[in-house]
Parts: sequence; C-alpha cells; structure tokens
Amino acid sequence: MARVRGIDLSFDDVGAGAPVVLLHGFPFDRSMWRGQVEALRGEFRVITPDLRGHGESGLADGPATMEEMARDVAALLDGLGIGRAVVGGLSMGGYVTLAFCRLFPERVSALVLADTRAQADTEEGKRTREENAERALREGMEPIASSMIPKLLTAAAAAERPGVLESVRRMILRTRPEGAAAALRGMALRRDQTDLLTLITAPTLVIVGGEDGLTPLEDARLIQGRVRDSRLAVIEEAAHLSNLERPGEFNSALLDFLKDCRDGGALTA
Ligand code: MLT
Repeated sequence: MARVRGIDLSFDDVGAGAPVVLLHGFPFDRSMWRGQVEALRGEFRVITPDLRGHGESGLADGPATMEEMARDVAALLDGLGIGRAVVGGLSMGGYVTLAFCRLFPERVSALVLADTRAQADTEEGKRTREENAERALREGMEPIASSMIPKLLTAAAAAERPGVLESVRRMILRTRPEGAAAALRGMALRRDQTDLLTLITAPTLVIVGGEDGLTPLEDARLIQGRVRDSRLAVIEEAAHLSNLERPGEFNSALLDFLKDCRDGGALTA
C-alpha cells in the first residue's frame, strides 16, 4: 500500500528488470493481471495497482477521472523511484494509459493498449454511464455484474471455463459501488484521445479479442493505424477480457513485444 495524492493505493510490485505497469479495467482490480504477472516476472518488474475506487485502494469525492487515475500512477512510480516505464492497460486501464501518455509522455518507454478505444463516449453512452452509476449506488454491483458478464467472455469460454467466469463475477461484486460510480462518471468525462495517437512515438502494442463487442477490432485498428510504431495482435476466440480468456496467446504477444522493445533499447531508464 502506498499513500499517494491523499488516498491509499494498493499495488503489487514483483520481478526485476525494466518496469512494466499494467492497469486493470472497470470494475475490476489488479488480480485480473495475475496470469500476466506470472508470465512476465522472470524478465521484467511488473507493477499492478488497484486504480482509485477499485480493489483495496481508496477513493476521494467526485468522479474518478482518467487523469486523476493517471496522476495516481505517476505518483506511485515517483514513490518507487521509477522515472520511465512501459505503461499498459485493458479497457478503462487503456483510457488511463492514454491519459498518462498525454500528461507524462516522457515517462512512457512503451505502451500496451488492450481491448480499449481512443474515442470519448457518445452522448447516449454518457447517459448510460450515469444510469449505471445511480443503479450501482442504489442496488449494489449485482446488476452491473449481470449486464456486463455476457459481454466480457465468449459464450464458449463462459460455458467451458466456469472458474474464469466465476472469478470475474466475484471481482465485480467485490468492487465498492461508490468506486464503480466514481469511475463510471470519470469515464463519461474522458476526452477524445484520437488526436494524441499520431503524436505517440513510443513503441505500442495494441491487443484485442477478435470477438470483443465492447471495444471491437475496429477501435483497435483505429489506434494501430495512427500510432507510428505500433503492432496489432488479435486474440482469436476471445471477447473483451482477452487476457483472462486466452492467457497463453495474450502473454505471448505481450512478452514478444516487451522483449523486442528491450532488445531494441527502448526500455532503458
Ligand atoms: C472496461 O472493461 O474497463 C469497461 O468495459 C470500459 C468501458 O465501460 O468503457
């Protein structure tokens, strides 16, 4: 646990080597990266925080904007004595990664954008966020879990790997409604980042589940088409939580990318 910017931020910091920060999606926590941490820790230092309002981290009043979360990550890195790092995130974690990249471009050695998008919410999307925020505060996380789960994993994975489904469900139900509501309101406020993409010079890996209906392949292609030094990995037979659904393929794409960055000299401090 670290005290940053007036809140307690919980995180794991394991392994040794060039630092890699992985940011979880909504409404999850750092435990969603367990499989990636195990795959990377032999060669990299992997830092996985619980973003504010999620997991064991604290929360302040008001919307938890992507910029607030990005500043928390920067403060955490300051506390750990880390200047530059690979920064990556899945979905909301990707929104925070883009916000981090806009605020602190010099601190990003490479980027990983998984199952995410650069565009802001539509007006209708913003209204739905507010409805969901109010619903979470009124009724708890059960309705959020029930409406999200069918979109997070493919039907095949949900049927064949009930353990994964159950762990996702438990992760959502552990999230405090106040934290979820703050993040929903923060996501609704997020800016369009498409103009940032052409300015990114850090090597970038874009990953997407081929069957992701929440942040579909076309969103990943938009990012990859605009970021100069980027590659796209499509994880077949995976939906939104591609890292949990197909950890083998996801980890290979991630490790190959990180090793290429390291061997090419991009990850030096
Ligand atoms: C996530 O997985 O972080 C969410 O689906 C992101 C979103 O709601 O836009």
